[in-house]
Amino acid sequence: MILVTGGAGFIGSNFILDWLSASDEPVVNLDALTYAGNLQNLESLKGDQRHIFVHGNIGDADLVASLFARYRPRAVVHFAAESHVDRSIFGPDAFFKTNVMGTLNLLECAKAFWDQTRGEEKERFRFLHVSTDEVYGSLRFDEAPFTEETPYRPNSPYSASKASSDHAVRAWFHTYGFPVLTTNCSNNYGPYQFPEKLIPLVIHNALSRLPLPIYGDGLNIRDWLYVKDHCEAIRTVLQKGTPGETYNIGGRNERNNLTIVQTICGLLDEWVPHEAGPYANLIEFVKDRPGHDRRYAIDATKIRTQLGWEPKESFETGIRKTVRWYLDHPEWVQGVLTGAYREWTAKQYGSLRVAG
Ligand code: NAD
Ligand code: TYD
Repeated sequence: MILVTGGAGFIGSNFILDWLSASDEPVVNLDALTYAGNLQNLESLKGDQRHIFVHGNIGDADLVASLFARYRPRAVVHFAAESHVDRSIFGPDAFFKTNVMGTLNLLECAKAFWDQTRGEEKERFRFLHVSTDEVYGSLRFDEAPFTEETPYRPNSPYSASKASSDHAVRAWFHTYGFPVLTTNCSNNYGPYQFPEKLIPLVIHNALSRLPLPIYGDGLNIRDWLYVKDHCEAIRTVLQKGTPGETYNIGGRNERNNLTIVQTICGLLDEWVPHEAGPYANLIEFVKDRPGHDRRYAIDATKIRTQLGWEPKESFETGIRKTVRWYLDHPEWVQGVLTGAYREWTAKQYGSLRVAG
């Protein structure tokens, strides 16, 4: 079996659903159920013996050690993290606790377990660390996309904490020979993404007739990848990746934020037209994010040529599936809109509105 951390979050839950649709190998899912964790994502696995949910923190050494002793996983797929840049600007503490110290604890417990294994069990063990392209910092419009050789230049508390964890993972390979794999992926979108991130936030706000907030001039660029393509890339790296190597994962779908929002508005105009006119009328330019990275772009040549992975979705097909999913699952969105969500959006967007 495999141990997945953060499997009740956006990418982790998509990964588990995907994994169990492709194989019967059981998954132990360790998740602290922060505001971003949601067991509703895994509702379809209720009663399924192949999914074992453990409510707990990756920083809890006794708990994590007990999971290794009990389940003897052949691999760890580590998603658990604080993941939202804007929240990291307000409160970096939780990011360093989970992303750095939590990852350190996980590494320590995994290595202690691996040290005691022998033969084939030792040979095949893998620790796959899921990271982000944001560790590379910001690109100019005319610069080549990030490769695995691009120097780390994290700019936000979030990316600094992820960069720190990547360095720890790297050191565990070089110092101890511990069999790690690291993936650095671009922005994901798709089902079950918490509506604090750009795409689900815009869909939710548009359907609720709320302003669609665009930071700064809206020309910041991200390289968007449909979440199922990311899940498949992780499975590929786990299966075929070389320990100690890192793999960049991206969709070759660079778009600026204004284009993303206009595309979503266009799909909503097509599927749920509103009498008040086009959804794009709700767009509102607001104050920029402090330290806002201008552009991210991934060169995914290595994973394509060495491991044979390529994304299946283009942005156009992926965004259609995504908007359709949110339209078809209003109960999921309602389920995550707690008081804490409302407090966050009031705090974040209350201060950003520009007059006029
Ligand atoms: P998410 O915020 O949706 O989910 C994170 C999950 O981790 C939640 O279920 C949460 O409850 C859990 N968690 C948080 N702290 C924990 C702790 N201390 N112990 C146990 N569980 C804890 O995040 P996501 O978007 O699914 O991202 C997953 C991973 O992928 C992260 O490591 C992130 O850095 C990375 N990543 C995300 C993107 C993206 O676009 N979302 C892109 C590249 C990489
Ligand atoms: P986000 O989804 O937070 O991902 P990240 O910051 O990790 O790339 O944001 C994606 C882009 O959208 C980023 O350039 C910031 C911008 N953005 C807005 O313009 N308005 C918003 O309300 C949000 C949440 C993001």
